[in-house]
Amino acid sequence: MENGRANMKPVTGTSQVTCTAPVNIAVIKYWGKRDERLVLPINPSLSVTLSQDQLCARTTVAASLDFKKDRIWLNGQEQSIDAPRLQKCLGEIRRLARKRKHEEERMGDLLGCCVHICSENNFPTAAGLASSAAGYACLVQSLAKLFHIDGDVSHIARQGSGSACRSMYGGFVEWTMGKMEDGSDSIAKQIAPADHWPELRVLVVVVNAGKKAVGSTEGMQTTVKTSALIKYRAEHVVPSRQEEMRQAVLERDFQTFGEITMKDSNQFHATCLDTYPPIFYLNETSKHIIHLVHRYNQHHGKIRAAYTFDAGPNAVLYLLQEDLPEVLALFHHFFPATTNNSERQFVRGLPDVQRKELSADLLDSVGLEPSPGSVQYIIHTKAGEDPQVLTDPQQALLDENGLPKKQT
Ligand code: DP6
Repeated sequence: MENGRANMKPVTGTSQVTCTAPVNIAVIKYWGKRDERLVLPINPSLSVTLSQDQLCARTTVAASLDFKKDRIWLNGQEQSIDAPRLQKCLGEIRRLARKRKHEEERMGDLLGCCVHICSENNFPTAAGLASSAAGYACLVQSLAKLFHIDGDVSHIARQGSGSACRSMYGGFVEWTMGKMEDGSDSIAKQIAPADHWPELRVLVVVVNAGKKAVGSTEGMQTTVKTSALIKYRAEHVVPSRQEEMRQAVLERDFQTFGEITMKDSNQFHATCLDTYPPIFYLNETSKHIIHLVHRYNQHHGKIRAAYTFDAGPNAVLYLLQEDLPEVLALFHHFFPATTNNSERQFVRGLPDVQRKELSADLLDSVGLEPSPGSVQYIIHTKAGEDPQVLTDPQQALLDENGLPKKQT
């Protein structure tokens, strides 16, 4: 008998929904809250939603009168349902559903049901990628569908994890600060769809590293408390940068897009250094990548690749499709795979690109020592769509009894 299911008869009247949700990578960073409880930011931010073909979270939620309590399984393991942010999202969805009960016939007994939630990522959490954004976006989207809630629910995803609100939309997305005290206008909005800029490509460079030193929530709290630079950034830098960035996206102006992306990443990491005690997210490989990108751009006299780093050492590069062969060749040359990270899997994701022969001139301009094995692998992807509902029951993570199909 596995998990005590053998004697179990299928639960009656179960409603189930399965969704996937994307990762997003900010080009104007969110760092710092003005309200911890409601997760209201000190500055607006802007991000690119990545394709779910390469990176996504998947969640199944089920509701049944037969369930005795709310339960959650993450990546195969049951977790406490009492986590405050999880409770916040569940509570907000139920509150909205209760409000709409009278106008929504399909609601039926749903409000009296307990829910089971099962979620997983299709990428290693240990890779330090923005898993909480995709995870909370997926949870909120699935619950909203289950409870028949239409319209924007990014203000609920925001209360799970700030950056999650931007994963509720595809393409190019901004998260506005909002003015209302209850945070109802601090929401995400799409500024351009995923197919607006088809030449734009993304390389997620997974750097060999240990566990994240300081989590984002705790890190930004200390920054807001101790850094003078973060105040200056929020008041005097981000507002105009956000406008410039929005314009650059609308005009598909890669020079401006790339320059602001790199400057904003650097300023975010400068505020981390200005935190007391300081927070270091970048490691030697990250710095190596920063030098490589600047020297490469300098060689060509224009921005051909732009880096950005979140709360960890992994780099995300934005570039145009035409420059992929050269940029990938540079990574192969300066971060060659070792037997531990086999050549075959070094670049994953979108179909492999023919590498360009690197000129001696370019190698000379870059002038770095190759660093074998310091990059684990690269995920080649592009901008993608908003969360999706999966209708094939085979893709559900919960079985007909509302229990995980696989558990570790
Ligand atoms: C560096 O959204 O993870 O990735 O709201 O506390 O959950 P919480 O923080 P989180 O912070 C993300 C910070 C960032 C920048 C960004 O994505 O804008």
